[in-house]
Amino acid sequence: MIKVAFYDAKAYDRPSFEHYGALHDMQFRFLETKLNEDTAEFARGCDAVCVFVNDNVNREVIDRLYELGVKLIALRSAGYNNVDVRAAFGKIHVVHVPAYSPYAVAEHAIALLLTSVRRIHKAYNRTREFNFSLNGLTGFDLHGKTAGVIGTGRIGRIFIDICRGFGMNVIAYDSFPAKDSGIEYVSLDELFERSDVISLHCPLTDGTRHMINAEAIGKMKKGVVILNTSRGGLIDAEALLEGIKARKIGAACLDVYEEEADIFFEDRSGHILNDDLLSRLISMPNVIVTSHQAFLTEEALNNIAETTVRNIVSCFENDGVCDNELCYRCGNIERCKKERKEKCF
Ligand code: NAI
Repeated sequence: MIKVAFYDAKAYDRPSFEHYGALHDMQFRFLETKLNEDTAEFARGCDAVCVFVNDNVNREVIDRLYELGVKLIALRSAGYNNVDVRAAFGKIHVVHVPAYSPYAVAEHAIALLLTSVRRIHKAYNRTREFNFSLNGLTGFDLHGKTAGVIGTGRIGRIFIDICRGFGMNVIAYDSFPAKDSGIEYVSLDELFERSDVISLHCPLTDGTRHMINAEAIGKMKKGVVILNTSRGGLIDAEALLEGIKARKIGAACLDVYEEEADIFFEDRSGHILNDDLLSRLISMPNVIVTSHQAFLTEEALNNIAETTVRNIVSCFENDGVCDNELCYRCGNIERCKKERKEKCF
């Protein structure tokens, strides 16, 4: 039996993981706490840990897990910026779920966009109080507007298709443009200058952190709508707030926030929020915040559980090779053994 310590467990995680785990004689220890230096100990006796986006899998945590005999870190997410894959190399294998439903995330980005530009969130609150006034609800047509998409991978490409369905013009920036895709790639500066709507779909790396900062916002059109369903750290939230206060930014829709780790996914109503910046952003009439919800569809949860369980099984069975293994050398044909269909180390 493979034993897995499942950190940051939520009620919606359990049914699908229990279902797929039972098919493979896998036992989950569901823990509500997040993984960090203090909670690594809870994995004692387990072969693997299963973690999500706000578990902090830094070098110290990895060393502690290694001492405890944990052999695998199984991310149940696509992004892995919260795991120090360099520190894990040679000690603990790391796997992730590269795609579970890119539609879920792209559709959520569109839901935020439509809600914002047609003021649906305001209309919903008004009609519940029998306020049928339309004052202040004037939106704008998406048709004919320009969407600037940063990151044209799985999610970005679906977002582009939906935008085209609305009759929007689409321009994009990607450090690795997709060949023969029919996508009009432009420089980042040109994207900032031409876009009415900017949507972020690239990973968070040292190179992309705060790519939306005061300088970038300075180049944007007045009234631009910024969507972030990728990672909070892509945006300098202080600069975003300044851009909103200066009436430069028309609206911001945020499913992610740089300092979300101790806030999102929990019921904080009735508590004083110790994050003035987030409080201020939420108080703005043209800001919509959802708490890292873009992935949350039935289809995505099912795919996440199925792939995570398959990843774990493949790491412990036969030769231990798993297509979804990650290391800091991945993508480097010369250095990563995975390119030769072997384990990363
Ligand atoms: P992907 O790997 O298919 O695509 C990422 C794209 O970004 C690639 O085309 C890549 O070339 C591009 N890219 C890399 N570095 C770049 C840079 N410096 N500038 C511009 N483009 C760059 O990833 P996928 O599946 O489309 O996911 C995108 C992001 O969405 C993930 O990194 C993750 O952070 C986020 N995400 C958020 C979820 C949520 O619930 N809010 C759920 C799933 C993913």
